[in-house]
Amino acid sequence: MSKKLVKELRFSKDIIFWRDNKNKVHALEAICPHRRADLGLGKIINDCIQCPYHGFLFNGDGDAVLIPSFGKSATINPNYKVKSYKVKEYKNFIFLWYGDDNATDEISWLEGIDDLFSFSTMKAVWNVNYTRAIENQLDVSHLPFVHRTTIGRGKKTIVNGPIVELNGNILNVWVCNEIDKGQKTKKSNEIKKEECTGRLQFIFPNYWQNIISNKLRVMAAFVPENDETTIIYIRVYQKFVRFPIISTLINSIIMRFNKFVLNQDKNVVTSQIPKVSDIYNRELLVQSDAPIILFRKYLHENAKIDKN
Ligand code: FES
Ligand SMILES: [Fe+2]
Repeated sequence: MSKKLVKELRFSKDIIFWRDNKNKVHALEAICPHRRADLGLGKIINDCIQCPYHGFLFNGDGDAVLIPSFGKSATINPNYKVKSYKVKEYKNFIFLWYGDDNATDEISWLEGIDDLFSFSTMKAVWNVNYTRAIENQLDVSHLPFVHRTTIGRGKKTIVNGPIVELNGNILNVWVCNEIDKGQKTKKSNEIKKEECTGRLQFIFPNYWQNIISNKLRVMAAFVPENDETTIIYIRVYQKFVRFPIISTLINSIIMRFNKFVLNQDKNVVTSQIPKVSDIYNRELLVQSDAPIILFRKYLHENAKIDKN
């Protein structure tokens, strides 16, 4: 994010972001409390935002520090305040705490992705609720159908388990899919983690990785613009090639492939009804949907989304 004012839609609200002189990111709701003009049309002045309409100046905490019509010497009533959001920059993402102001700002990060990885990022916009987009990345039985020409080659239609574990806000899924030779599908307690061919990890509320190897990961962050639109930031992390120019090239080739794979999902996920998934959906789930069931349960018990 450059040192300009950026306006983004999150959870149906316009939010402005900017960096101060120390490079710290600030986030405020984009509505001026005076006569409700769009602060996204404003200017950054001395690390504050100036409303484009009557010039009220708000600092990074959302407090009005100047009301020009009162003059510089006026004491300002603290009611002249814009809603501010807690934000933290971490791993080249800006994390925003949308709900509970008292929530911890500790960030759990994806296992094994350290700073020795290089990465490239791509953005896709889907007309789906974020719950559907996330569930799709936890769905271990769609691969031989939706991705039969790419990551689902090999007709591994039998889904043993999967083994699913939830620790705090971290969900791990061990994948153990096989070709159907007439054998019986195994339950999660009949397989071992070591026999599994892959692992998915999801961190609530909204990011995920596919642990392909110690040196290659695909991660995704699911960012709700509103109830019907989700931005998916896909990031490829690799550390098998370290030389800068070559690693950039490799990252972009892997990214191109992943973009194609993600696009294979888009139509079918967009077609699902109802648009918002919930624990009470009238879906007839099967054993392989265990990660989705756990995802819904967690969300049902923990999500406190302010719809006002
Ligand atoms: S509407 Fe923002 S200063 Fe008047
Ligand atoms: Fe998929």
